[in-house]
Amino acid sequence: VDPTIDIVAEIQRLKKEKNAVILAHYYQDAEIQDIADYIGDSLGLSQQAAKTDADMIVFAGVHFMAETAKILSPSKKVLLPDLKAGCSLSDSCPPHLFAKFKEQYPDHLVITYVNCTAELKALSDIVCTSSNAVEIVQSLPADQKIIFGPDKNLGDYVKKKTGRDLVLWNGACMVHEIFSQDKIIDLRSQFPDAKFIAHPECEDHILAQADYVGSTSGMLKYTIENSAQQFIVATESGILHQMQKASPTKTFIPAPPNNVCACNDCPHMKLNTLEKLYNCLYYELPEVDLPTSVIERARKPIERMLEISE
Ligand code: 13P
Ligand code: SF4
Repeated sequence: VDPTIDIVAEIQRLKKEKNAVILAHYYQDAEIQDIADYIGDSLGLSQQAAKTDADMIVFAGVHFMAETAKILSPSKKVLLPDLKAGCSLSDSCPPHLFAKFKEQYPDHLVITYVNCTAELKALSDIVCTSSNAVEIVQSLPADQKIIFGPDKNLGDYVKKKTGRDLVLWNGACMVHEIFSQDKIIDLRSQFPDAKFIAHPECEDHILAQADYVGSTSGMLKYTIENSAQQFIVATESGILHQMQKASPTKTFIPAPPNNVCACNDCPHMKLNTLEKLYNCLYYELPEVDLPTSVIERARKPIERMLEISE
């Protein structure tokens, strides 16, 4: 990128010229969040992708999110600033192995968490996100047998909340499994008035300590509505930008990771940069596209989710 240009102004100009919309997840860098047309959790972003009248969607997020946007708006051009922005949770569930796993439970309905490949969604009956997983399971008859994947931690959480016996795939997110229980206990004793909030992709022993468990937008809403002045936040650190913006006088402390990790950043989400966003809009590359057959099969379970979550 030419170092003399005003990159933010150029992104705004290209966006108008090409009738593009920038959708950003809360885990993006602050400067990307600040230039986005819409910032949200996975459910909000897929609802936006389904209803936008833009010609082009630039997805500041990871690959499975751009795929979901393409599935919901197949006639639009969907761009992802860095094609290498993947997801460890999605990688933990290769579709060919999941297909074999599914064969063992022929009378089960398959619910997949949106953090998975389009091929995996095509093998599913209903998709869910962290903000509607409990609601979706509860919407099904009590005797309905269910396979839930790929996140075992979210699956365990849904099992506890609904009292249902789900068959779980053994997948997890690398970011949400790094939190140190001992360090969180120490921090809470230093900040006894702080609320501890966690994303349901965290492990059971972390969630057990939480004052609130929810999706990124659920956590943000909680910090706005709760009268506490301090919050210890167990999720990817990008969300702290919106929390601080919404409540400038409150204090937000990232939950401490174990000794192996230095911070709570998702290496995939953080691959996106303003420069890549600019190049992506300028060259209209890299594009995320999918075979029509995958789009058709993956759309049904996502639309089923959107109907339940309206
Ligand atoms: P939500 O924003 O839907 O809570 O998802 C969190 C996440 O891990 C996305 O990668
Ligand atoms: Fe995947 Fe976890 Fe990164 Fe979200 S935070 S994109 S679930 S690796």
